[in-house]
Amino acid sequence: MTITDQSSGESTDWAIELYNVTKTYGTKYTAVTAVDDVFLHVERGEIVVIMGPSGSGKTTLIQLIGALLTPTSGDIIVNGRHLEGLSKADLSKLRRSEIGFIFQTPNLLAGLTSSQNVELVLNLAGIKGRAAKERALHLLEQVGLKERTSHLPSQMSGGEQQRVAIARALANDPQIILADEPTANLDSKTGHHVVELLKRTAKNHGKTVIIATHDMRIRDLADRVLWLEDGKISVRWSDGYMIDPVCLMLVTKSTILRAEHNGKNYYFCSRGCLEKFKENPESYASRGTWNGDREGSVVDA
Ligand SMILES: Nc1ncnc2c1ncn2[C@@H]1O[C@H](COP(=O)(O)OP(=O)(O)O)[C@@H](O)[C@H]1O
Ligand SMILES: [Mg+2]
Repeated sequence: MTITDQSSGESTDWAIELYNVTKTYGTKYTAVTAVDDVFLHVERGEIVVIMGPSGSGKTTLIQLIGALLTPTSGDIIVNGRHLEGLSKADLSKLRRSEIGFIFQTPNLLAGLTSSQNVELVLNLAGIKGRAAKERALHLLEQVGLKERTSHLPSQMSGGEQQRVAIARALANDPQIILADEPTANLDSKTGHHVVELLKRTAKNHGKTVIIATHDMRIRDLADRVLWLEDGKISVRWSDGYMIDPVCLMLVTKSTILRAEHNGKNYYFCSRGCLEKFKENPESYASRGTWNGDREGSVVDA
């Protein structure tokens, strides 16, 4: 779906759109709301890091976006398609061809070489034989594993195995890469290298990447950092920007337009957006929690 920002006339091509997405596990007394009324747009080609403590809902959010879980309520649109309207077969096709997953553990098949692990994913998508082999070798070369294509997982380090997982996630040329704690089992230096590589490879191919992590080092690699707390997304001034709740553009600390609504601060890229917000704050305020802390040269609107 393309949304036109009326203040500038530019249009944005969203890879991922979430509207008021909530996921509650269990019922009644056992109910846990892991993701709570989340509104999120991710641009094509953007690298977003979702940070938050354990239990804040990162895995649930990633799995909702990746169509591995269905929301209790709300709407999720991936590459312009409403997940709710898709059949099981279409969802599995979407997961296979449009999304690449990277998990905490590489989950490589122990009896297969790194090349065969990547080829397997290609085979499942209908690319077989020599074509699959060549593509697997090319991908492994891109993640710096040219010398490891015939190695079994047990013959590789954790960082190398996770790089195979990146090559595997890229195999079917998905537009979107979702990574859930990809560095959790790596020492922090190796972890940083692996994510740097993921970022470089993704940028080269124009991929959209969402990484859930509580590894602080990874935040430098993001175009945007979002914080998840109790299933709600917040953006912090300390990261150098906020999001305009009306047009969803990033606004930097130099922005001087602010409005307060129900005790929370909202920041705007332009007076036009601010005016729209004032006309109907309720319709925009639900787009997330903004922990504006009055840092920087912010002036009340
Ligand atoms: N399958 C499940 N059934 C019930 N509760 C769950 C389930 N998965 C996660 N939760 C709960 O949802 C909350 C968010 O979990 P999760 O998404 O795994 O967070 P994170 O990845 O940030 O650690 C936690 O309170 C967790 O206990
Ligand atoms: Mg998790």
